[in-house]
Amino acid sequence: MSNEVMLIRGGIPLEGTVRVSGGKNTSVAVMPATLLSDEPCVIENLPDISDVHAMVDILSSLGAKVSFRDGRMEVDPTSVSSSQVGYEHARRLRGSYYLMGVLLGRYHEFEVAQPGGCDIGLRMIDQHLKGFRALGASVEERNGIVTAKATRLTGAKINFDQVTVGGTINVMLAACRAEGNSILLNAAKEPHVVDVANFLNSMGASIKGAGTDTIRISGRPNLHGSSYAVIPDQIETGTLMIAAAATHGDVVISNCIPTHMEALTAKLLEMGVRVEEQGDAIEVRGAGPHRGVRVKTQVYPGFPTDLQQPMSALLTTASGDSEIYETIFENRFRHVDELNRMGANIRVSGRLALFTGVPELLSAPVTVTDLRAGAALLVAGLMASGETEIHAPEYIDRGYEHIEDKLRALHADIRRERLG
Ligand code: EPZ
Repeated sequence: MSNEVMLIRGGIPLEGTVRVSGGKNTSVAVMPATLLSDEPCVIENLPDISDVHAMVDILSSLGAKVSFRDGRMEVDPTSVSSSQVGYEHARRLRGSYYLMGVLLGRYHEFEVAQPGGCDIGLRMIDQHLKGFRALGASVEERNGIVTAKATRLTGAKINFDQVTVGGTINVMLAACRAEGNSILLNAAKEPHVVDVANFLNSMGASIKGAGTDTIRISGRPNLHGSSYAVIPDQIETGTLMIAAAATHGDVVISNCIPTHMEALTAKLLEMGVRVEEQGDAIEVRGAGPHRGVRVKTQVYPGFPTDLQQPMSALLTTASGDSEIYETIFENRFRHVDELNRMGANIRVSGRLALFTGVPELLSAPVTVTDLRAGAALLVAGLMASGETEIHAPEYIDRGYEHIEDKLRALHADIRRERLG
């Protein structure tokens, strides 16, 4: 745990305009996907977050020439000389698993340590490996390392046993340079699946149906270089919308894609929050009482599991009862104890969290356990009277670019201090 603490003096309505950064979950897939190209690529709108920096380090460790400045990555994959990603690198982010699909697709082999990422459940990768095997790879998992080899990759029909964002993207990465056609059935439909497919197609891949549950890929022997900008972050957009509502503020969230936010927008409207779509911006006005609601996380276009944690903070003071049913991950309520320390009244039973609205949250020292738990505590700190101390704020830096600067620009009283 770092020796830093984030301090927030809450109760101030957020007001003004804030610009959403490029998406974390698309960036950690598009960045390694550049290695599938035989020529240099440029990726723009990358967020300045620790997961992106970790991915830059991984690509460099494989021998690629990588430069990253001001959200722009230039990469020359022609000097890649390794297909191994060790534990030290892989553990830094969940998205390290995308090197499996990329290295298999490009070099027909990989040796990659099991990924890291937030501790929110089992987080298996069996469906990823099922896809690689279907394409013709022999895959072995031993001592925390996944090893794969294929004499050739041949298109296949792959029916995912369950919807998996990472599995869908990973198999797409390997299949786009396989010989022949592949069909992915029961595929994930998240916005970043579409973004990765769009990037691959900009390199000359042939991928159709991304964004639906059936993706058809016609393998290409080579892919050329491309310049591409990743889409705005759906989850940062949602977190800022929730923070605006939770502080009874009036915030315009710009550079976002409102259609990606439909499930959250509907829930906020149901609570009595005013939400107005304005082209590539959304205005959220949180004035007035908020009614309790029932939330059930679902795969896209349902309510995103990554937003249930910050949404939990908002529900703590909504009138009456609320509930959250988490269908995607089995251990994604670790922020609840911390919210209860701040005066919330939440009871967890398995995948169900039951809320009884309380008049207000009170500041307290709390500790972040995972990225979106950090988002929940950030929102709670903005709501609570008094000064809330958030320990282990580095988790928040994994997925939110310069979050203090953004919130200070909206009048929040937020700063970070070194401990001891
Ligand atoms: C991605 O994780 C995101 N991470 C997560 O965001 C997000 O919560 C999740 O998708 C769902 O939207 C990145 O994109 C880097 P899954 P991923 O494969 O790929 C099970 C954040 O906060 N499963 O869709 O790991 C798995 O255990 C992070 O930004 C298998 O059983 O999610 C989970 O219960 C957190 N076998 C469920 O499926 C597999 O082979 C969904 O996982 C794959 C998944």
